[in-house]
Amino acid sequence: MSFLELANKRYSVRNYKNTPVAKETINRCIEAARLAPSACNSQPWRFIVVDDSELIKDVAKAAFEGILNFNHFAFKAPVLVLIVSERQKPSAIFGSIVKGKNFSQMDIGITAEHFCLQATEEGLGTCMLGWFNESKVKKRLSIPKFKRVELIVSVGFSADDNFPPKNRKGTDEIVSYNHYC
Ligand SMILES: Cc1cc2nc3c(=O)[nH]c(=O)nc-3n(C[C@H](O)[C@H](O)[C@H](O)COP(=O)(O)O)c2cc1C
Repeated sequence: MSFLELANKRYSVRNYKNTPVAKETINRCIEAARLAPSACNSQPWRFIVVDDSELIKDVAKAAFEGILNFNHFAFKAPVLVLIVSERQKPSAIFGSIVKGKNFSQMDIGITAEHFCLQATEEGLGTCMLGWFNESKVKKRLSIPKFKRVELIVSVGFSADDNFPPKNRKGTDEIVSYNHYC
């Protein structure tokens, strides 16, 4: 598969089979995430893989139950991967302050996408989830209060045969050469 084919194939899967996912497969996705670039090579991330079926229910309950529970589908995912942001190198913190840019969150986004693309290559479906009850999740998994759980990635084999067409802006809307317009 070419990289473009892989990028096209990845989409947010919101309906999972209850087929378990092998630890080795998850480990290869983590390896791809580990290789991601980051500002000043800070690698400001930690991954918590939740693959125990009882614990998934607990974590999903903590994360996704509530009034706006549109991520309820994640209850059925056989694996949830939490991405916690960790301390950056002083140079990256300095750069973030001076340049007014959140390098840490950029790093988290990149590593998350590395994870998801490897998962796609493995025939798995993923969905990055940013909308969840962070404090309840931290409590359930004894993650220190001062840490941030930036994303939860649901992982599993898709229960759907067809995937939705890509809904993206056209190239002419997002690119210009040699000037901004
Ligand atoms: C940072 C981030 C947060 C997201 N949070 C959610 C979420 O809470 N719930 C959800 O269903 N999808 C979430 N998504 C998935 C996006 O909705 C999805 O990537 C986008 O609509 C494009 O569709 P595709 O991934 O199928 O190509 C999130 C994606 C990103 C990158």
